[in-house]
Amino acid sequence: MRVLVTGGLGFIGSHTVCDLLESGYDVTIIDNLYNSKEVVLERIKEITGRAPNFYKFDVQNKEKLEEVFKKEKIDAIIHFAGYKAVGESVEKPLEYYENNLDTTFALLWMMKKYGTKNFVFSSSATIYGVPDKVPLKETDPRKEATSPYGESKVMIERILEDVSHVNKDYNIAILRYFNPIGAHKSGLLGEDPNGIPNNLLPYINKVAVGELKYLNVFGNDYPTKDGTGVRDYIHVLDLARGHVLALKKLETNPGLVIYNLGTGKGTSVLEMIKAYEEATNIKIPYEIKPRRSGDVAINYADCSKANIELGFKAKYTIKDACLDGYNYQLAEEKRKNS
Ligand code: UFG
Repeated sequence: MRVLVTGGLGFIGSHTVCDLLESGYDVTIIDNLYNSKEVVLERIKEITGRAPNFYKFDVQNKEKLEEVFKKEKIDAIIHFAGYKAVGESVEKPLEYYENNLDTTFALLWMMKKYGTKNFVFSSSATIYGVPDKVPLKETDPRKEATSPYGESKVMIERILEDVSHVNKDYNIAILRYFNPIGAHKSGLLGEDPNGIPNNLLPYINKVAVGELKYLNVFGNDYPTKDGTGVRDYIHVLDLARGHVLALKKLETNPGLVIYNLGTGKGTSVLEMIKAYEEATNIKIPYEIKPRRSGDVAINYADCSKANIELGFKAKYTIKDACLDGYNYQLAEEKRKNS
């Protein structure tokens, strides 16, 4: 079975590609390297001993996309490619809507033309907006998102539902990720954003290796256990497994299915700092700063549906993820300096 993975050299994509290859799937990657590096392809080969087919172009390019579908028999698509920075999306709404929607449209048209029936979509907990209650269940309402990034995910979920209504033979899995963190155990794959990271763990990693002086903790007056924001952090290796399990589910012809992928546990920013310090033995200095606009106080998943229907259960702890993330950052610094 051949799986087309768009954005397959990115953070979640590359870990998923490894799991797919190790699980016996054939993989074709399309990635325009907007937020990833070609060296990741070599690292995937090093980890798995297998070589995915790789095409470098933007999934919005319909002509090039069609060439791939003509050449290869694609049985399933996992669609990761997309812009994902919440703050940036507010500044660049057109770019975000255009890129995230057009890549999805291009793939859906190819599915129609070339008879591909299986589609897995990278959605996000952001579609729940400001939650009325936690833990969040798949049946909780999608809300108006607080950013164009989030709204693009809301729109695509809706589009997939409409497409599924008229294509009863399609199998579509919408996966709503909570907060992916960590890195591959080999130290070869991970998350290394350019510039100052927006997300908590990449920022802490840079403090740990001495690239940034201290962490800014955005707000300590939220109605949470210690006043800092609470999130459901999931190891990227667990998240990757969730995709393989979702693909297996699609092989049973379920139609459209939606799953939260998280751990079911909420961790505050201060708890995360402590876990990181314990896992790595490195002190993470921090300063309390005002709340970051657009942040919700608390957000974590009810993952019982994925557990019951997919057999999905996160097996790594927050500390595992902290240590793996740190080891990757350290290895990456060494590679850059050598
Ligand atoms: N935080 C800090 N300091 C930082 C960065 C983050 O204190 O330097 C705090 C935030 O205020 C928040 C928590 O750490 O309480 C997590 O923040 P992240 O930026 O790591 O993650 P978010 O929960 O804001 O966003 C993530 C993804 C989005 C996705 C969203 C869905 O980045 O793509 O989860 O819930 F939409």
